[in-house]
Amino acid sequence: MILVNAPLIAPNAKKYLNECLETNWLSGEGPFVSRFEEAFATRMNVGYAMTTNSGTASLHLALASLGVGPGDEVILPASTMGACYFAIWYCGAKAVPVDVDPVTYTIDPKAVERAITPKTKAVMAVHLFGHPCEMDALLALKKKHHFLLIEDCAEAHGATYHGQVVGSFGEAGCYSFYANKIITTGEGGMMTTNDPELATKARSMKTFSFSPEKRFTHIGMGYRYTMTNLQAAVGLAQLEILDSSIKAKHKMAAFYAKHLQKIPGIVVPTEKKDCQSVFWMYAILVKEKEFGMSRDQLMKELLENFGIQTRSFFFPPQVAFAEMHVFDGLTFPVADRIGEEGLYLPSGLGNTQAEFQQVVDAIAQISKKRRTAR
Ligand SMILES: Cc1ncc(COP(=O)(O)O)c(C=O)c1O
Repeated sequence: MILVNAPLIAPNAKKYLNECLETNWLSGEGPFVSRFEEAFATRMNVGYAMTTNSGTASLHLALASLGVGPGDEVILPASTMGACYFAIWYCGAKAVPVDVDPVTYTIDPKAVERAITPKTKAVMAVHLFGHPCEMDALLALKKKHHFLLIEDCAEAHGATYHGQVVGSFGEAGCYSFYANKIITTGEGGMMTTNDPELATKARSMKTFSFSPEKRFTHIGMGYRYTMTNLQAAVGLAQLEILDSSIKAKHKMAAFYAKHLQKIPGIVVPTEKKDCQSVFWMYAILVKEKEFGMSRDQLMKELLENFGIQTRSFFFPPQVAFAEMHVFDGLTFPVADRIGEEGLYLPSGLGNTQAEFQQVVDAIAQISKKRRTAR
C-alpha cells in the first residue's frame, strides 16, 4: 500500500526523546517546550509562539484569547477542515463560510467583503494545501473593516507570500503538528503572535489560566491545551529539517506536475507569482468528461487496482455538516465543484520517489485505458 502521507522522522528526534527520558522530563514543564517555542518563533519570524496539544486547540486558543464570543461572526473559507468551524463554535460565535478562489482554493477576498456585517469580529484565512491566501487583498479589507485576522497555517508551515512567511500577517497564526503535517509531533499545535499582551493571555489560558501569584486560583476561563516535553522534543527535531522538507516538497510537486499536467482531464495545482507554496498535499482536480471517470471512481481504482491511497478535498459546509443541518441550502460555486473534483495524491515526506513514480504511472495507465475505450 502506498500511504497518502507517510511521515519522515527527523534524525535528532530519537536523541532528543532519549534526553527527555533520561532527565525524567515528560510534562509540558520540560525544557524542550520552550526550546521548540523559541526556535519556532525565530523561524516563522514572529515574536511569540505557544505550543498546544492540537491544531484545533491552537485555533480555539487564538479566538478565545482575542475575545471572540457569542454574538460575533467569524468568516472562513467554505473549503477547509471541520476543525476551523468547531473552534469558532467552541467560542459560541457564528461561523460564516464564503467561497474560495478557483486557482489557489484559498478564501476569496471578494467573497469575504460581501459577507462582512457589523457583527464580523474576525476572518480566518486558511493557507490551504500549503498555498498562501491572497494576503494583500485581505490586509486591505482588514484596514477598511477593522476585523481580527487569524491565519490557519496547519497545512502551510514555512510558506511565503511576497517573501513574508505566513502566520506573521494577522493577529495570530495557528499550526497543526498532526502526523501528516510537514512538522509533526504526532499530535500537537502552536499559536503564534507578535502581540506581547496576547501572547501572555494565550499562554495563561492554555494552562488553566492559573494566577501567577497564587497557584490553583484562576484569573479567568482556562483550558488544558499543553504539549508534552516528549512532543516538543520531536517538534524541535522536525523544525530543524524544515528547510530540507520544503525542498523535498517542491521536488515532489515538480515531478508530479511534469507527468500529470499532460494528462487530459487532470488539473494540477498552481503556485501563484511571488508565493511559495509548501505543497503540503499535491492536490489535483479530475474533470470527469475529459478524464473519462469521476474523482470518486479514480480514487477507487487507484486503491483497488494499484494499492494507492488518496484523499478527497474537504467538502463544503452544507455537505460536511449535513447531519447538523446548520448550513442547509447554502451553495458555493467553487467550493462545491472542487469538493466533487478534488483529490490529493501521496505526498508525505516519508513517501519515496519510487512511489511517486508508481502514482503517475498508474494515473497515466488509467487515462490511456479510458481514452482507448471511448
Ligand atoms: C486547515 C486545518 N486546520 C486545522 C486542522 C486541525 O488540526 P489538528 O488535527 O491538529 O487539530 C487541520 C488538520 O488536521 C487542518 O488541515
